[in-house]
Amino acid sequence: MPWALVTGASSGIGEEFAFQLAEQRYDLVLTARGTEQLERLAEKLREKHGVQVQVLTADLSQREGMAVVEQRLRSDEDPIDLLVNNAGFGTTAPFVGGDVQPEQEMLDVLVTAVMRLTHAALPRMVRRRRGGVIIVSSVAGWMPSGTYSAAKAWATTFAESLAGEVRRAGVRVMALCPGYTVTGFHARASIDPDAVPRFMWLESQSVVRSALRDFRAGRPVSTPSIRYKFLGLVMRSVPRWVMRAANVGLSGQRRK
Ligand SMILES: NC(=O)c1ccc[n+]([C@@H]2O[C@H](COP(=O)([O-])OP(=O)(O)OC[C@H]3O[C@@H](n4cnc5c(N)ncnc54)[C@H](OP(=O)(O)O)[C@@H]3O)[C@@H](O)[C@H]2O)c1
Repeated sequence: MPWALVTGASSGIGEEFAFQLAEQRYDLVLTARGTEQLERLAEKLREKHGVQVQVLTADLSQREGMAVVEQRLRSDEDPIDLLVNNAGFGTTAPFVGGDVQPEQEMLDVLVTAVMRLTHAALPRMVRRRRGGVIIVSSVAGWMPSGTYSAAKAWATTFAESLAGEVRRAGVRVMALCPGYTVTGFHARASIDPDAVPRFMWLESQSVVRSALRDFRAGRPVSTPSIRYKFLGLVMRSVPRWVMRAANVGLSGQRRK
């Protein structure tokens, strides 16, 4: 059976990737900081789907944590066929006058770790002419809205660029750009879910289902749901000053 490694597998979209990949008969390496949650999930997946599951505790804001996962990705034993770079978090704190540490950690987890893990995983995939990488980006990457959205813009561009580079070797790279998805993300980021209209919310099950479908189809970017496909088209077509003005309005509301 092929092996998949999912970062941020202890909750939300990452946990859902673990469930759906186990259903598709992938053996799994689950990583995050929360060992207990990972062990509980691993047990469930072994029982329900009879797959092999390894747990790797790692803090991806730290070089040592990244190195642990990079080492597993380079291992010849049970080589990884699919890397899902999913771990992440956001913040609503203002940049000016706010704490610099969460901004730095965001870049470490959303950019540096994604780059290093992908760098560790791809050479073997290219040599074996099989496998791929999914990078969980966001629709936030289409708008100018702080470190988080700048990091997600990097993630989408990075995935698109690599997709072209490795396509001839039979390897796939895809950016997944979900909109608001019901997970623990917003509570952790102090985002009030009631401030987001109900029709804007997606479920992680459908996000991951459509991501895996798009990945199999070889798409370099996956935007789950017609709503966000349309919104994406609009956001990328309007003049940039409109997006800048919209963001000033939104951040004014958030900081009230
Ligand atoms: N939910 C949304 O509306 C939404 C929309 C677009 C994109 N996304 C993206 O989707 C991805 C998953 O988010 P989610 O919504 O599923 O949020 P979530 O439920 O909060 O899950 C985030 C996962 O990332 C892990 N993580 C956070 N910081 C980490 C660190 N320093 N080292 C290692 N693992 C870390 C968490 O595990 P531990 O805390 O145990 O380490 C957890 O497993 C993120 O990249 C996010 O930016 C989310």
